[in-house]
Amino acid sequence: MTSRKGLLLAGGTGSRLWPITLGISKQLLPLYDKPMIYYPLSVLMLAGIREICIITTPEDQPQFRRLLGDGSQWGLDLHYIIQPRPDGLAQAYLLAEDWLAGAPSAMVLGDNIFHGDGLARLLARADARPHGTVFGYRVRDPERYGVLGFDAAGRVTSITEKPIEPASPFAVTGLYFLDGDAPARARAVRPSNRGELEITSLLEMYLGDGLLEVETLGRGYAWLDTGTHAALLDAGNFVRTLEDRQGMQTGCPEEIAFQQGWIDTPALLAQAARFGKTDYGAYLATLAAPQGGYDQMPPGDIRSDTCL
Ligand code: TTP
Repeated sequence: MTSRKGLLLAGGTGSRLWPITLGISKQLLPLYDKPMIYYPLSVLMLAGIREICIITTPEDQPQFRRLLGDGSQWGLDLHYIIQPRPDGLAQAYLLAEDWLAGAPSAMVLGDNIFHGDGLARLLARADARPHGTVFGYRVRDPERYGVLGFDAAGRVTSITEKPIEPASPFAVTGLYFLDGDAPARARAVRPSNRGELEITSLLEMYLGDGLLEVETLGRGYAWLDTGTHAALLDAGNFVRTLEDRQGMQTGCPEEIAFQQGWIDTPALLAQAARFGKTDYGAYLATLAAPQGGYDQMPPGDIRSDTCL
Protein backbone atom coordinates (compact mmCIF):
# COMPACT_ATOMS: atom_id res chain seq x y z
CA MET A 1 0.00 0.00 0.00
CA THR A 2 1.19 3.57 -0.72
CA SER A 3 2.21 5.30 2.48
CA ARG A 4 -0.16 7.70 4.09
CA LYS A 5 0.40 11.38 3.38
CA GLY A 6 -0.46 14.30 5.65
CA LEU A 7 -2.60 17.35 5.00
CA LEU A 8 -2.26 20.28 7.38
CA LEU A 9 -5.02 22.80 6.95
CA ALA A 10 -3.73 26.24 7.88
CA GLY A 11 -5.90 28.63 5.87
CA GLY A 12 -9.14 30.14 7.09
CA THR A 13 -10.02 33.64 8.16
CA GLY A 14 -9.50 33.50 11.91
CA SER A 15 -12.23 36.10 12.26
CA ARG A 16 -13.00 35.14 15.86
CA LEU A 17 -9.47 36.21 16.74
CA TRP A 18 -9.66 39.63 15.10
CA PRO A 19 -7.89 42.05 15.38
CA ILE A 20 -4.90 39.73 16.12
CA THR A 21 -5.36 37.75 12.90
CA LEU A 22 -5.83 40.79 10.67
CA GLY A 23 -2.05 40.84 10.18
CA ILE A 24 -0.98 37.22 10.72
CA SER A 25 -2.34 33.73 10.19
CA LYS A 26 -3.89 32.15 13.27
CA GLN A 27 -1.73 29.05 12.86
CA LEU A 28 1.45 31.14 13.14
CA LEU A 29 0.46 32.66 16.48
CA PRO A 30 2.45 31.57 19.52
CA LEU A 31 1.04 28.83 21.67
CA TYR A 32 3.20 29.50 24.71
CA ASP A 33 6.72 28.78 23.43
CA LYS A 34 6.29 27.74 19.82
CA PRO A 35 4.14 28.47 16.77
CA MET A 36 0.69 26.91 16.88
CA ILE A 37 1.29 24.87 13.72
CA TYR A 38 4.03 22.85 15.47
CA TYR A 39 1.39 21.03 17.53
CA PRO A 40 -0.76 19.59 14.71
CA LEU A 41 2.40 19.00 12.67
CA SER A 42 3.70 16.92 15.58
CA VAL A 43 0.53 14.79 15.49
CA LEU A 44 1.14 13.88 11.85
CA MET A 45 4.78 13.12 12.64
CA LEU A 46 3.77 10.95 15.58
CA ALA A 47 1.59 9.03 13.12
CA GLY A 48 4.78 8.27 11.19
CA ILE A 49 3.92 10.59 8.29
CA ARG A 50 6.81 12.31 6.53
CA GLU A 51 5.21 13.69 3.36
CA ILE A 52 3.05 16.60 4.41
CA CYS A 53 1.20 19.28 2.48
CA ILE A 54 0.61 22.63 4.17
CA ILE A 55 -2.53 24.35 2.85
CA THR A 56 -2.64 28.11 3.42
CA THR A 57 -4.15 31.34 2.16
CA PRO A 58 -2.26 33.01 -0.73
CA GLU A 59 -1.10 35.90 1.51
CA ASP A 60 0.22 33.72 4.32
CA GLN A 61 2.13 31.06 2.37
CA PRO A 62 5.50 32.92 2.34
CA GLN A 63 5.52 33.11 6.14
CA PHE A 64 4.80 29.40 6.50
CA ARG A 65 7.62 28.66 4.07
CA ARG A 66 9.92 30.89 6.08
CA LEU A 67 9.04 29.09 9.30
CA LEU A 68 8.95 25.48 8.10
CA GLY A 69 11.06 25.44 4.93
CA ASP A 70 11.21 22.16 3.04
CA GLY A 71 11.01 20.18 6.30
CA SER A 72 14.43 18.56 5.85
CA GLN A 73 15.55 19.84 9.28
CA TRP A 74 13.04 17.30 10.68
CA GLY A 75 13.52 14.63 8.02
CA LEU A 76 10.23 15.66 6.40
CA ASP A 77 9.20 16.42 2.86
CA LEU A 78 6.93 19.48 3.02
CA HIS A 79 4.83 20.68 0.12
CA TYR A 80 2.73 23.85 -0.04
CA ILE A 81 -0.66 24.42 -1.66
CA ILE A 82 -2.78 27.57 -1.71
CA GLN A 83 -6.47 27.65 -0.85
CA PRO A 84 -7.70 30.81 -2.59
CA ARG A 85 -10.72 31.23 -0.31
CA PRO A 86 -11.83 29.49 2.89
CA ASP A 87 -14.38 27.35 1.08
CA GLY A 88 -14.43 24.54 3.61
CA LEU A 89 -12.36 21.70 5.02
CA ALA A 90 -13.40 19.11 2.42
CA GLN A 91 -11.96 21.34 -0.31
CA ALA A 92 -8.48 20.35 0.90
CA TYR A 93 -8.88 16.94 -0.76
CA LEU A 94 -9.70 18.60 -4.10
CA LEU A 95 -6.79 21.02 -3.89
CA ALA A 96 -4.37 18.24 -2.94
CA GLU A 97 -5.73 15.56 -5.28
CA ASP A 98 -2.73 15.55 -7.66
CA TRP A 99 -0.23 15.70 -4.83
CA LEU A 100 -1.93 12.84 -2.96
CA ALA A 101 -1.78 10.74 -6.15
CA GLY A 102 -4.12 8.11 -4.74
CA ALA A 103 -2.41 7.81 -1.34
CA PRO A 104 -4.42 7.51 1.88
CA SER A 105 -4.23 10.63 4.03
CA ALA A 106 -4.42 12.03 7.52
CA MET A 107 -5.75 15.57 7.64
CA VAL A 108 -5.34 17.72 10.74
CA LEU A 109 -6.63 21.23 11.39
CA GLY A 110 -3.87 23.72 12.05
CA ASP A 111 -5.53 25.11 15.17
CA ASN A 112 -6.20 21.80 16.95
CA ILE A 113 -4.08 20.62 19.89
CA PHE A 114 -4.01 16.94 20.91
CA HIS A 115 -2.21 15.63 23.96
CA GLY A 116 -2.37 12.35 25.84
CA ASP A 117 -0.70 9.15 26.87
CA GLY A 118 -0.67 6.53 24.14
CA LEU A 119 -1.65 8.84 21.30
CA ALA A 120 0.95 7.23 19.04
CA ARG A 121 -0.72 3.82 19.52
CA LEU A 122 -4.14 5.27 18.68
CA LEU A 123 -2.75 6.85 15.53
CA ALA A 124 -1.10 3.59 14.52
CA ARG A 125 -4.45 1.81 14.88
CA ALA A 126 -6.12 4.37 12.63
CA ASP A 127 -3.29 4.09 10.11
CA ALA A 128 -3.72 0.32 9.91
CA ARG A 129 -7.40 0.58 8.87
CA PRO A 130 -8.11 0.43 5.15
CA HIS A 131 -10.76 3.18 5.01
CA GLY A 132 -11.68 5.98 7.41
CA THR A 133 -11.19 6.89 11.07
CA VAL A 134 -12.36 9.93 13.01
CA PHE A 135 -11.58 10.74 16.62
CA GLY A 136 -14.38 11.57 19.06
CA TYR A 137 -13.95 13.64 22.21
CA ARG A 138 -16.43 14.37 24.97
CA VAL A 139 -17.14 18.10 25.35
CA ARG A 140 -19.44 20.19 27.52
CA ASP A 141 -20.91 22.03 24.50
CA PRO A 142 -21.28 19.49 21.64
CA GLU A 143 -23.75 21.72 19.78
CA ARG A 144 -20.77 23.83 18.59
CA TYR A 145 -19.24 20.88 16.70
CA GLY A 146 -19.93 17.94 14.40
CA VAL A 147 -21.52 15.45 16.81
CA LEU A 148 -21.39 11.64 16.76
CA GLY A 149 -24.45 9.44 17.26
CA PHE A 150 -23.95 5.81 18.37
CA ASP A 151 -26.08 2.64 18.38
CA ALA A 152 -26.49 0.38 21.42
CA ALA A 153 -23.33 -1.54 20.46
CA GLY A 154 -21.32 1.69 20.46
CA ARG A 155 -20.94 1.82 16.67
CA VAL A 156 -21.17 5.26 15.11
CA THR A 157 -24.44 5.76 13.22
CA SER A 158 -24.53 9.51 12.53
CA ILE A 159 -22.50 12.69 12.34
CA THR A 160 -24.47 15.91 12.60
CA GLU A 161 -22.97 19.36 12.13
CA LYS A 162 -23.83 21.78 14.96
CA PRO A 163 -27.08 20.02 16.01
CA ILE A 164 -29.64 21.86 18.15
CA GLU A 165 -30.19 18.64 20.09
CA PRO A 166 -26.92 16.67 20.12
CA ALA A 167 -27.25 12.86 20.00
CA SER A 168 -24.23 12.48 22.32
CA PRO A 169 -21.61 14.66 24.03
CA PHE A 170 -18.95 13.42 21.58
CA ALA A 171 -17.59 15.93 19.09
CA VAL A 172 -15.64 14.99 15.96
CA THR A 173 -12.12 16.38 16.40
CA GLY A 174 -10.06 18.00 13.66
CA LEU A 175 -8.14 14.87 12.66
CA TYR A 176 -9.35 12.63 9.85
CA PHE A 177 -7.77 9.46 8.45
CA LEU A 178 -9.27 8.70 5.03
CA ASP A 179 -8.41 6.34 2.20
CA GLY A 180 -7.21 7.20 -1.30
CA ASP A 181 -10.78 7.73 -2.53
CA ALA A 182 -11.25 10.92 -0.48
CA PRO A 183 -10.62 13.36 -3.38
CA ALA A 184 -13.04 11.50 -5.68
CA ARG A 185 -15.68 11.46 -2.95
CA ALA A 186 -15.04 15.13 -2.11
CA ARG A 187 -15.99 16.00 -5.69
CA ALA A 188 -19.53 14.89 -4.91
CA VAL A 189 -19.82 17.22 -1.88
CA ARG A 190 -22.08 20.20 -2.59
CA PRO A 191 -21.66 23.53 -0.75
CA SER A 192 -23.69 23.81 2.45
CA ASN A 193 -26.05 26.66 3.39
CA ARG A 194 -23.03 28.62 4.61
CA GLY A 195 -21.36 28.04 1.21
CA GLU A 196 -18.64 25.63 2.44
CA LEU A 197 -17.63 22.13 1.38
CA GLU A 198 -18.22 20.56 4.76
CA ILE A 199 -16.01 17.77 6.09
CA THR A 200 -19.15 16.36 7.74
CA SER A 201 -20.71 15.77 4.30
CA LEU A 202 -17.63 13.83 3.20
CA LEU A 203 -17.55 11.81 6.43
CA GLU A 204 -21.25 11.02 6.02
CA MET A 205 -20.47 9.38 2.67
CA TYR A 206 -17.93 7.10 4.31
CA LEU A 207 -20.35 6.39 7.14
CA GLY A 208 -23.19 5.60 4.72
CA ASP A 209 -20.97 3.04 2.98
CA GLY A 210 -19.92 1.47 6.29
CA LEU A 211 -16.33 2.65 5.85
CA LEU A 212 -15.89 4.90 8.89
CA GLU A 213 -14.67 3.95 12.36
CA VAL A 214 -14.40 6.09 15.47
CA GLU A 215 -11.67 6.16 18.05
CA THR A 216 -12.83 7.93 21.18
CA LEU A 217 -10.21 9.86 23.08
CA GLY A 218 -10.85 9.22 26.79
CA ARG A 219 -10.73 11.69 29.66
CA GLY A 220 -6.96 11.33 29.91
CA TYR A 221 -6.59 13.19 26.63
CA ALA A 222 -6.73 16.88 25.98
CA TRP A 223 -8.23 18.12 22.74
CA LEU A 224 -8.11 21.88 22.65
CA ASP A 225 -8.85 24.36 19.95
CA THR A 226 -7.53 27.85 19.81
CA GLY A 227 -10.19 29.65 17.81
CA THR A 228 -11.16 32.33 20.34
CA HIS A 229 -9.12 34.69 22.49
CA ALA A 230 -9.93 32.79 25.69
CA ALA A 231 -9.32 29.36 24.12
CA LEU A 232 -5.97 30.54 22.76
CA LEU A 233 -4.84 31.72 26.18
CA ASP A 234 -6.14 28.57 27.90
CA ALA A 235 -4.32 26.30 25.45
CA GLY A 236 -1.09 28.28 25.95
CA ASN A 237 -1.43 28.00 29.72
CA PHE A 238 -2.09 24.26 29.39
CA VAL A 239 1.16 23.79 27.47
CA ARG A 240 3.09 25.95 29.92
CA THR A 241 1.74 24.04 32.92
CA LEU A 242 2.70 20.66 31.44
CA GLU A 243 6.13 21.72 30.23
CA ASP A 244 7.00 23.53 33.43
CA ARG A 245 5.96 20.60 35.61
CA GLN A 246 7.54 17.78 33.58
CA GLY A 247 10.56 19.45 32.10
CA MET A 248 9.48 17.90 28.80
CA GLN A 249 8.32 19.52 25.61
CA THR A 250 4.91 19.18 24.03
CA GLY A 251 4.57 19.45 20.25
CA CYS A 252 8.32 19.43 19.58
CA PRO A 253 9.03 18.36 15.96
CA GLU A 254 12.77 17.87 16.58
CA GLU A 255 12.06 15.44 19.41
CA ILE A 256 9.64 13.33 17.39
CA ALA A 257 11.93 13.34 14.35
CA PHE A 258 14.79 12.13 16.56
CA GLN A 259 12.66 9.42 18.18
CA GLN A 260 11.44 8.26 14.79
CA GLY A 261 15.02 8.01 13.56
CA TRP A 262 14.45 10.63 10.87
CA ILE A 263 17.28 12.86 12.12
CA ASP A 264 20.53 11.79 13.76
CA THR A 265 22.31 13.19 16.82
CA PRO A 266 24.45 15.75 14.92
CA ALA A 267 21.30 17.10 13.21
CA LEU A 268 19.52 17.34 16.57
CA LEU A 269 22.48 19.14 18.12
CA ALA A 270 22.61 21.52 15.17
CA GLN A 271 18.99 22.48 15.90
CA ALA A 272 19.82 22.82 19.61
CA ALA A 273 22.67 25.18 18.75
CA ARG A 274 20.43 27.18 16.45
CA PHE A 275 18.04 27.90 19.31
CA GLY A 276 20.91 29.05 21.48
CA LYS A 277 20.16 29.73 25.09
CA THR A 278 16.40 29.27 25.01
CA ASP A 279 14.84 26.51 27.12
CA TYR A 280 13.84 24.94 23.82
CA GLY A 281 17.43 24.72 22.62
CA ALA A 282 18.62 23.40 26.00
CA TYR A 283 15.91 20.73 25.89
CA LEU A 284 16.98 19.55 22.45
CA ALA A 285 20.55 19.21 23.70
CA THR A 286 19.41 17.01 26.62
CA LEU A 287 17.61 14.68 24.21
CA ALA A 288 20.92 13.90 22.55
CA ALA A 289 22.48 12.85 25.87
CA PRO A 290 21.98 9.20 26.96
CA GLN A 291 18.85 8.95 29.19
CA GLY A 292 18.22 12.63 28.60
CA GLY A 293 21.23 13.48 30.78
CA TYR A 294 20.09 11.41 33.80
CA ASP A 295 21.86 8.40 35.31
CA GLN A 296 18.64 6.55 36.00
CA MET A 297 15.31 6.26 34.24
CA PRO A 298 12.49 3.71 34.56
CA PRO A 299 12.50 0.75 32.15
CA GLY A 300 11.61 1.84 28.63
CA ASP A 301 11.60 5.45 27.67
CA ILE A 302 8.51 7.26 28.86
CA ARG A 303 9.15 9.95 26.31
CA SER A 304 8.78 7.71 23.33
CA ASP A 305 5.31 6.50 24.26
CA THR A 306 3.31 9.61 24.56
CA CYS A 307 4.70 12.72 23.86
CA LEU A 308 3.29 15.29 22.00
P1 TTP B 1 -12.42 27.49 11.58
O1 TTP B 1 -12.07 27.72 13.01
O2 TTP B 1 -13.73 26.88 11.27
O3 TTP B 1 -12.36 28.86 10.78
P2 TTP B 1 -11.26 29.98 10.86
O4 TTP B 1 -9.94 29.43 11.27
O5 TTP B 1 -11.31 30.71 9.55
O6 TTP B 1 -11.73 30.92 12.04
P3 TTP B 1 -13.02 31.86 12.26
O7 TTP B 1 -14.20 30.91 12.41
O8 TTP B 1 -12.68 32.55 13.54
O9 TTP B 1 -13.15 32.82 11.11
O10 TTP B 1 -11.28 26.62 10.88
C1 TTP B 1 -10.72 25.50 11.49
C2 TTP B 1 -9.33 25.26 10.92
O11 TTP B 1 -9.39 24.96 9.54
C3 TTP B 1 -8.39 26.43 11.03
O12 TTP B 1 -7.10 25.91 11.34
C4 TTP B 1 -8.42 27.07 9.67
C5 TTP B 1 -8.68 25.91 8.77
N1 TTP B 1 -9.50 26.21 7.57
C6 TTP B 1 -8.91 26.20 6.33
O13 TTP B 1 -7.69 26.02 6.20
N2 TTP B 1 -9.70 26.39 5.23
C7 TTP B 1 -11.04 26.59 5.31
O14 TTP B 1 -11.71 26.72 4.27
C8 TTP B 1 -11.64 26.60 6.62
C9 TTP B 1 -13.12 26.81 6.77
C10 TTP B 1 -10.84 26.40 7.72
